[in-house]
Amino acid sequence: MTPLSKKILGMAILSLISLGLLAACGESPEATAQERATETTSAESMPQTPVRSSDFRIPPQGFVTDLQRGQQLFVANCAQCHGTDARGSDKGPPLIHRIYEPSHHSDLAFYFAVSRGTHQHHWNFGNMPPVPGVNGEDAAHIIAWVRQQQRAAGIH
Ligand code: HEC
Repeated sequence: MTPLSKKILGMAILSLISLGLLAACGESPEATAQERATETTSAESMPQTPVRSSDFRIPPQGFVTDLQRGQQLFVANCAQCHGTDARGSDKGPPLIHRIYEPSHHSDLAFYFAVSRGTHQHHWNFGNMPPVPGVNGEDAAHIIAWVRQQQRAAGIH
């Protein structure tokens, strides 16, 4: 090998090595850390994702509901947004409304709203947070009262 070709070979090897180094630097460890950071942030910015569904039990069919108890529980836990008479306030929509009739929002939708909250989607009041003080049986009483109010208003 001539000294010149040795030099060229040496340069080629050097540039191969530095290319490899560059590639290694541009590779994922940093990117992965970044992705992880993004994931954490977006998870944290969604406080209304299921938090307490594990201790929330929908009562079995045949559970006997009490309208008066339902109204009391509604006033204590829901009225601040949905209004004392469930006809809405400046913080939440009326539940005595056609869109919340059973064929459109089943009882299950009510249980989910209470235990998990719900994202803003029908109105412009923002998200509904879960209501931690209300268990499945409480919710059943509340639903019974809301359904009775809907019927009384001629909604179904
Ligand atoms: C902090 C305010 C707030 C409280 C307290 C609250 N809600 Fe809501 N709720 C909302 C808002 C706002 C919406 C409307 C979300 C949308 O569709 O834009 C809503 C929607 C709902 C819905 C419809 C869910 C769906 O699937 O569209 C039901 C059912 C409901 N609430 C029931 C209740 C009951 C029962 C309680 C009490 C145990 C309660 N809410 C307490 C704010 C509240």
